[in-house]
Amino acid sequence: MSILIKGGTVLSSTGSVAADVVVDGERVTAVVAPDSWPGNADTVIDATGKYVLPGGIDGHTHMEMPFGGTFSADTFETGTTAAAWGGTTTIVDFAVQAKGTSLLSTLDKWHEKAGGNCAIDYGFHMIVSDVNDGTLKEMDACVDAGVNTFKMFMAYPGVFYSTDGEILLAMQRARANGGTIMMHAENGIAIDQLVAQAIAAGRTDPVQHGLTRPPELEGEATHRAIQLAKVTGAPLYIVHLSAAQALEAVAVARNDGQNVFAETCPQYLFLSIEDLARPDFEGAKFVASPPLREKSHQGALWQGLRTNDLSVVSTDHCPFCFVEQKELGRGDFSKIPNGMPGVEHRMDLIYQGVVGGELTLQRWVEVTSTTPARMFGLYPRKGVIAPGSDADIVVYDPKATQTLSASTHHMNVDYSAYEGLEITGRVDTVLSRGRVVLDRDGWHGAKGHGRFLSRELNQYLN
Ligand code: URP
Ligand code: ZN
Ligand code: ZN
Ligand code: ZN
Repeated sequence: MSILIKGGTVLSSTGSVAADVVVDGERVTAVVAPDSWPGNADTVIDATGKYVLPGGIDGHTHMEMPFGGTFSADTFETGTTAAAWGGTTTIVDFAVQAKGTSLLSTLDKWHEKAGGNCAIDYGFHMIVSDVNDGTLKEMDACVDAGVNTFKMFMAYPGVFYSTDGEILLAMQRARANGGTIMMHAENGIAIDQLVAQAIAAGRTDPVQHGLTRPPELEGEATHRAIQLAKVTGAPLYIVHLSAAQALEAVAVARNDGQNVFAETCPQYLFLSIEDLARPDFEGAKFVASPPLREKSHQGALWQGLRTNDLSVVSTDHCPFCFVEQKELGRGDFSKIPNGMPGVEHRMDLIYQGVVGGELTLQRWVEVTSTTPARMFGLYPRKGVIAPGSDADIVVYDPKATQTLSASTHHMNVDYSAYEGLEITGRVDTVLSRGRVVLDRDGWHGAKGHGRFLSRELNQYLN
């Protein structure tokens, strides 16, 4: 099956060029001057007036994730389908080690969940919540199995939390085996005291989730994680960075030459603590950790994306339905399952940065596709349109407009965090490994098309 994508502007992290793209089977075979391809194609896609860009890579999703006595609402099938609708053709999801279990049995479990169910390609990170001699040894086996990124938590004492000593040991192991530690950097010990004080004082509304997790405690934990990484020589990737204080710590470390990287998420660029303060428990829709911040942080985050102190935009997609799931925390904000939906809207929302003059087209592609590909060991198979690369391609209409809404989205969740938001730009056609999974007449993808990606080491370091 060959496909010719004609007449578009092909985008990469370094430039844009009028070109036609030739796909044969699962791969790109040529990128040629307009109208210069001499061969025939089974299918011709007209991309006139549109951008042709590498499929998005969302390096931070949680499908079917156990949390707070429930599971995030998207399955691997529904979540990867929604991702594709939004122009994301690869996800890296988190396998979650439960305390008392091994990393390799966890990996087996996540392979069972995802295998045969994904509509697009997928990889795994490993959440390490139980650091012991066995776990530390198993980190090496995970690296060999193509899972070389290990998330740890300075938040959620008693659940996912690791002590500084445990983090140090895991970092030493990552330093030795080439892995990268990903850090949820919030000071959970201090936060738990603030949460207990709020509940005891009868302050139970969703906005308290934000007020009890101040940005200083994200800044402090980020700084601490960076120092632990420095002592051990391990690379560090800060996930879901939300606060200017944390960004400052990352910038200082990077200026010092330390291998520290960070991502932010669309919700921190577009939403704020004012959404958490919506009345009638509606704020629960916006409970995620770190919490939504004061709007004043947003400018710093856009700037960080421009300066590369923030290298990646991921979603931290972790949807819980408002009715039934977020409900678990009515009367006690600390019991609201933490997480927000977003996998479908990342490409569109970050494109608004281009529309608004915050980012160049090239930077849009870089932070949503090319850098995640390099960071997570998938380049040049993913993250670029070039001969030999997987034909994961998005044809994007920069002039179309759309209104985001739960009534039209494809995520398996009963609300949109961006309900009614009118935006410019829309995905037109999506190819996943050479298969047109989505075009103007709808969905042509299928569960089981997506394959597991055994990932190489961080390509910024190796
Ligand atoms: O609130 C969030 N972010 N839920 C997902 C788990 C995590 O910490 O990434
Ligand atoms: Zn986290
Ligand atoms: Zn997460
Ligand atoms: Zn069609």
